[in-house]
Amino acid sequence: MPRSGRRRAPLMPLVAALLAQAALPGMAGADPLDPGGRWTANARGQAPVPPMGWNSWNAFNSDIDEAKILGSAQTLVSSGLAKAGYTRVNIDDGWWLKRRTRDGRLVIRTAQFPSARVAGGQADDTSFRPLTDRLHAMGLKAGIYSDMGRNSCGQIYTADFKNQPEGSVAEREIGLYGHVDQDIRLFFEEWGFDLIKVDGCGIRGLPADSPRVRSGLYRAFPSLIDMQSIGRTDVAAVRALYTSVADALERERPGGDYLLSLCLWGSADVRAWGKDLGNISRTSDDITPHWGRMLTNFDTAARRELYAHPGSWNDADMLFVGQGDFDEAHPTEARSHFALWAMINSPLVIGYDLRKLTPGLRAIFGNTDIIALNQDPAGNQAVIAYDSDDVQFLVKTLADGTKGVALFNRSAVPATVTLNAGQLKFRDDAAITLTDLWTRATTRFTGKQDFTLAPHQTLIFRASGARRLADGLFLSEQPGRVNPAVDGVIARRPDPTIHHSVTAWSGTRGAGEHVQYSGWGGSRADRAVFGQVLRVGGTDYDTGLGVLAGSRLEVRNTGFRRFAAEVGMDDAAAQARGTLRFEIYGDGKLLASTDGVAFDRAARPLTADVAGVRIIELVTRATGGSTDDPAPAVWANARLLR
Ligand code: GLA
Repeated sequence: MPRSGRRRAPLMPLVAALLAQAALPGMAGADPLDPGGRWTANARGQAPVPPMGWNSWNAFNSDIDEAKILGSAQTLVSSGLAKAGYTRVNIDDGWWLKRRTRDGRLVIRTAQFPSARVAGGQADDTSFRPLTDRLHAMGLKAGIYSDMGRNSCGQIYTADFKNQPEGSVAEREIGLYGHVDQDIRLFFEEWGFDLIKVDGCGIRGLPADSPRVRSGLYRAFPSLIDMQSIGRTDVAAVRALYTSVADALERERPGGDYLLSLCLWGSADVRAWGKDLGNISRTSDDITPHWGRMLTNFDTAARRELYAHPGSWNDADMLFVGQGDFDEAHPTEARSHFALWAMINSPLVIGYDLRKLTPGLRAIFGNTDIIALNQDPAGNQAVIAYDSDDVQFLVKTLADGTKGVALFNRSAVPATVTLNAGQLKFRDDAAITLTDLWTRATTRFTGKQDFTLAPHQTLIFRASGARRLADGLFLSEQPGRVNPAVDGVIARRPDPTIHHSVTAWSGTRGAGEHVQYSGWGGSRADRAVFGQVLRVGGTDYDTGLGVLAGSRLEVRNTGFRRFAAEVGMDDAAAQARGTLRFEIYGDGKLLASTDGVAFDRAARPLTADVAGVRIIELVTRATGGSTDDPAPAVWANARLLR
């Protein structure tokens, strides 16, 4: 029984059927720590690098029309931003008129989208094809927005929403629920869209006792998501519904050109499965144009470096550059927001009315050196090399072995900081060159270098130097190739390090926002799972992977011959009992292992010949002792060598 004493509503027949047929990993009774010999993070859809483009929501809310969308699309092309990579034009909430009851077909608001009227057809025959054809002819891709439930976010949460769907209760049911195949076919085949963003308000906000259901406005939908409680969220049912969309997309465009954007705001434990299903997955509730809110959204993604890979990226939400705290009068904040999103491989999606684009904003959106960090083919999200509530250093390893480096001052006072060669995993006895990606000025130093950061400033550089590991790569330098297939998190606690901001939607009413992103304790690069420095038997390690006992990491091997690490139980373990077993697999076969690893013992070397191996798996098992509170473990200096 849930804590409130209310029984959770019975599953709806469709969800129950989906659950019955969904073969979710770990449900079949097999040990999830056994090697699979394959890469399981999402490889469907098209997102080898983070998607870039424009979306109507931050610019216009739901008050959208064709002129606004085409105006921004035209500016993307004429300003050269499309050439710089911003090619996706996404229509967000506000396009629906109704769902036609005679055949379930969705109808577009032709008052706002005149080109959607079908010549010679009936008034409710509409098509987005003329608009997507125009976008495609401009060399752009087109995106559409829907909801997993029967109703949309605007319908449920916003009383004065522009462009609300109209008609009877049934006609206002414009969401995907019960229409997944029909709508995906309509959006992708008939209307020619290339991307779909799938929101989750309709499976969250319409319990039978909600005012909008009681008043007869909408049909009830059992709340599958409880934003305040993961225990009261039906994670499997939410996942099954989103899986049905992913499968429909793959049927519609087999192996093809589409992009699935999951919009669950970090709820429903999406941090654990979004990377296996969608191309981008929102880690937080909506961004607003406020410094504090930008910090919140950044924090939800910034420590998830191992959960982002080519094909599936953390989505910290759309850019708010151009508005509020990030408008032209605040270039320091605008540049920080942009640089940070680039570094953490968040999609770069402009949320500004580009018809008003100024040279100043163009220079931010169009900084090709910073875009190149985000779009680097190696697909490594930046790793936090120095972490505090005031200043953070982010380091991103690029395909050519150079680094993107961001020195970020979160605070409202200036900060003097020192960057060390070791934080870049460069040698401290050879020259390092930094190129400032806003000014192009270069700095050369050996060992360490001081900088002064203005309030809210992010200095962003490209760095080259002599790599500390000359004959290989540390795994923490290539998080894009490490997938925590099983991360061992059993207590799904919210991440306490995420900045709590005052939200625009509730102000200071109530007790303050509750963080939804329940990934605390998941695998980390260069950190222990709870944020400490990696430490085994009293020795600190600045490089390696922090994991939990009961985890299995998949590692893509791109031609390296040897894997090596020093393994041990992390000194951060709360209970100094039990032992660990570390195993290395190559394409499913056990290559090496070490047993009986106990607390406060020095780390032990563990190596394996991985020549010719495609997928290496690193398994950490608890052997002896309770598994209720999995011990943190360390693969120190985990590295692949030529
Ligand atoms: C949710 C999403 C936003 C936007 C709105 C539209 O809040 O998180 O990004 O799509 O819905 O109503």
